[in-house]
Amino acid sequence: MKASIVGEKVILVPYMKEHVPKYHEWMQNPALLEATASEPLTLDQEYEMQVSWTQDPLKQTFIVLDKELVDGEFCHGDPHTEAMVGDVNIYMNDLDDAKVAEVEIMIAETKSRGKGVGKESVLMMMAFAVENFGIQAFQAKIGESNTASISLFQKLGFEKISHSDIFKEVTLKLEMSKSKCEELYRLTDTAMTYF
Ligand SMILES: CC(C)(COP(=O)(O)OP(=O)(O)OC[C@H]1O[C@@H](n2cnc3c(N)ncnc32)[C@H](O)[C@@H]1OP(=O)(O)O)[C@@H](O)C(=O)NCCC(=O)NCCS
Repeated sequence: MKASIVGEKVILVPYMKEHVPKYHEWMQNPALLEATASEPLTLDQEYEMQVSWTQDPLKQTFIVLDKELVDGEFCHGDPHTEAMVGDVNIYMNDLDDAKVAEVEIMIAETKSRGKGVGKESVLMMMAFAVENFGIQAFQAKIGESNTASISLFQKLGFEKISHSDIFKEVTLKLEMSKSKCEELYRLTDTAMTYF
């Protein structure tokens, strides 16, 4: 069983096959496809994707649960599909530097937006990546018109490092200096990880 992380507002759980139908439903929404630069998949392809993401050593994916929506007590290993509202990923896909990870966040359920769920999910993902994979810098590639997402990452200390006219996206980066790591641990020190 992969890790689950329990924070103040969110619980990050591994992407399990039980999550796929809802995830697939989200990814029929053209606005979400555009915001996440994704292609629509069939349900079968989504199941294949769930398996490949789980097995890919360069990728770490969590489903975001909104704690307010969890039925009863949280149980590590239970998918808690009733509370799934989005996902958060890192890809360690930088060929020049294995210690750089690209981070992505999606809060698909609009009822769970605007209450700090996305921000806390990214912080917990980053703390997990620093501790477990020794990540030293994070990057985020975001559509140039996605002001909500750009603002979220800037609030976390990310800075713009480039802009692509072709892809109409900006790249933001955060170097994890010693003081940034200390700040990250302080912000996430009440989170509990279950393996
Ligand atoms: C962008 C997104 C992840 C924000 O998630 P969220 O849980 O609603 O965000 P939070 O409540 O944690 O907000 C954190 C910060 O993000 C920014 N933000 C969030 N929603 C915003 C909005 N509608 N307009 C402007 N800024 C916004 C703010 O800076 C906010 O800080 P504040 O609360 O101090 O003002 C979410 O709206 C989403 O998933 N959108 C669609 C998919 C997407 O764009 N993914 C990013 C691709 S890289």
